[in-house]
Amino acid sequence: MRKKLYQEIHDYKILLVDDEVGIIDSIATLLRRNGYIYKGTTYPLEAIEMVRNEHFDLMILDFLMQPLHGDKVVEKIREFNQELYILLLTGHKDLAPPLETIRQLDIQGYCEKSDNFDQLLLLIESGIKSIAQMRTIAKFRDGLNKILQSVPKIYQLQPIDGILEEILLQIMPIVNSTNAFILVDNPTDGTVDKTSLFRGIGKYRIDIDSFWSMLNAEFIAEIGTARANLTNILLDEGVIIPLINEYQHSLGVIFVETSEREDGLRLLEIFSNQASSSLSNAFLHSLVNVKNEQLNRTYMQLKRNYIDTIQALRLTVDAKDIYTRGHSDRVAFYSVAIGNAIGLKDSDINTLKLSGLFHDIGKIGTANDILLKSERLIPAEYEEIKKHSLTGAHILSAISVFKDVIPVVRHHHERMDGNGYPDGLSGDEIPLLARIVAIADAYDAMMSDRMYRVRLDHEHIKKELIDGAGIQFDAELVKAFVDILDQLPPHENIKFDELGIDN
Ligand SMILES: [Fe+2]
Repeated sequence: MRKKLYQEIHDYKILLVDDEVGIIDSIATLLRRNGYIYKGTTYPLEAIEMVRNEHFDLMILDFLMQPLHGDKVVEKIREFNQELYILLLTGHKDLAPPLETIRQLDIQGYCEKSDNFDQLLLLIESGIKSIAQMRTIAKFRDGLNKILQSVPKIYQLQPIDGILEEILLQIMPIVNSTNAFILVDNPTDGTVDKTSLFRGIGKYRIDIDSFWSMLNAEFIAEIGTARANLTNILLDEGVIIPLINEYQHSLGVIFVETSEREDGLRLLEIFSNQASSSLSNAFLHSLVNVKNEQLNRTYMQLKRNYIDTIQALRLTVDAKDIYTRGHSDRVAFYSVAIGNAIGLKDSDINTLKLSGLFHDIGKIGTANDILLKSERLIPAEYEEIKKHSLTGAHILSAISVFKDVIPVVRHHHERMDGNGYPDGLSGDEIPLLARIVAIADAYDAMMSDRMYRVRLDHEHIKKELIDGAGIQFDAELVKAFVDILDQLPPHENIKFDELGIDN
């Protein structure tokens, strides 16, 4: 708290008034040593003029002064300034002004002059805190006014691009920020996998080509988390606020670079609520109004860039661990093989392929020394590894193109008996496609050399799968897979050259 206060001290100006130079000097030393910004005067009349012509937050003044006593100085100042926070210094208790005067003149505190100024310092500190609170209240009031004024403007604008721009422009002054962006699903895209709309301001006023590539995996995961959990995510550099529509669905996110954590944040939330409802309103109309052809081209490009970024992350994960290189390609292949064997429809097959390719993408967040450790993992390290399914789901949640893949990635380490992670689901609670990927994943792991063992032989692997049926794996799926095992191409030859995501 002290540290925070110290940082904020520079925002406040103190006026020091005492007709004795010695007192001014001692208090000035104290203020300087504690980092305060101040000015001093020995002339009471001059002090009144200084307050009139210059902004001060706090005034410390002597009571017994010539030619004007402190209470008279305050009286004059209160005629034109009610905001100034005033601390009165008194010589002796007997010489203090009556309490009534102190109340009447709205003097916030007084303290006796003494050799050490500990008490004064405490009064100043608590004064600065009150001033800070008053400022926040004023800001809150101003901010609410701004929001109320800007809402009709947002509603009036029809093209979504304009609304996004307007939302950003309105947000900036609320929290004194210069950098922000807004990322929302594009409702006018008729395809199943919705694309996204993006608008940035400040350093995010960049073309869509650059946007995804400037984000790192953690940041993308945070965006996904905000959307998935419908909660604000506070980062060192700013805050991610989900835009939530009236059905409690996430439309997208606003990111604002700011250190605001309290009232400013509340304002951002209020504003985001307004922005969400105006956006969902606009989306209804936009289906008619948006110049589809031109916009679609832009969205397609955005989608492609995002996928390029995700693809790069996937390859990074594969590259991190030489013992699992090609693993995700093969998991995709085996998953698709199982899916075809049980007659899944094309859209599920496509989801399986993507799920296989991306199932371990969350390992981008796992430390290399854990990922590559050759000895047995200690429990804490195992817990760290276990985070990857959730992290992966969050990375993919940043935009809705992967919405069907997300549950599969999240649940690919669940077990039929409920002893898996992250959610301990069991049996049919585990999504079918996740149960499929779990088998493909385990199969490929056993088929591969690992740092701590060579690959298992075929009969051994088959036995492991059958033994795990109903306990770790879905029994029917194991049966379907075991039936086609002999028809699969050699393990080493399996490779997916392209993602097969429809751009
Ligand atoms: Fe995994």
